[in-house]
Amino acid sequence: MASEAGFVRDAFSRICGVYDFLNSVLSLGLDAGWRKKTAEALCPLPEDGKRPILDLAAGTLALTLVLARTFPGYRIAALDFCPPMLRLGLSRLKPGMRARILPLAGDARVLPLPDSSMSAATAAFGLRNINPRGRAYAEVLRVLVPGGRFCVLEFSGGGERLLFGLYNFYLHRVLPIVGGLVSGSRDAYRYLAESIRDHPSADDLADEMRAAGFVNVVYKKFTGGVVCLHCAEKPPGSPECGRVLETGQRRTDGC
Ligand SMILES: C[S@@+](CC[C@H](N)C(=O)[O-])C[C@H]1O[C@@H](n2cnc3c(N)ncnc32)[C@H](O)[C@@H]1O
Repeated sequence: MASEAGFVRDAFSRICGVYDFLNSVLSLGLDAGWRKKTAEALCPLPEDGKRPILDLAAGTLALTLVLARTFPGYRIAALDFCPPMLRLGLSRLKPGMRARILPLAGDARVLPLPDSSMSAATAAFGLRNINPRGRAYAEVLRVLVPGGRFCVLEFSGGGERLLFGLYNFYLHRVLPIVGGLVSGSRDAYRYLAESIRDHPSADDLADEMRAAGFVNVVYKKFTGGVVCLHCAEKPPGSPECGRVLETGQRRTDGC
């Protein structure tokens, strides 16, 4: 596991300079809209800006910035275990924004945060890199306030044929070649394609999140199923990282 995490960290260190550019090109510019929908899915937040929002696997802060703009009254804790990605993102921030973003170099499997200290949490294109995911779920449940929402944006996994197979061709043939040529690291882009293929299907991921202890787990697919947004909540009234209280239970505060 350590070497796998080491490989992932090295891969992102190698491609950090071209990550955002390639992200936009390879997603045909659709990634910005997907992130916006992820931030909006946290609305309304359970409280009024007292506790920060956690952006897990924040990378170069692409989603962190969308969160900061969507929720002007909140600070955003941006956590990633690859310092070069975080540093690059921070170097681009305007001073006003910098004051609201708390960069955290750390591992999603061992969050350096107190219990029930975060209003909500997100992870965009990060969850599939975390192994085992169960440790990240347990940590998110620990640090979220009861009823706090966790939204996960991720490429659809499960090896499903999408857009008549065009997407699968693109993922396994075009992405490693174009990504490899531009970044100089074909390995890293081959890993990205394989990690998407090996990621669970939307239904399986939802089941996995329920089994980990989240409630009200729902998902929505975008762009012909290429990406999927899962939203889940920490059970209300359970400060500890717990099991499911009652599946299907709804909160009464409008979330
Ligand atoms: C594809 S990037 C996503 C960055 C950003 N969220 C976005 O929307 O573009 C994935 C990030 O996950 C980070 N990552 C992978 N495993 C991690 C872990 N166990 N803990 C913290 N960060 C991790 C990597 O360092 C990388 O920056």
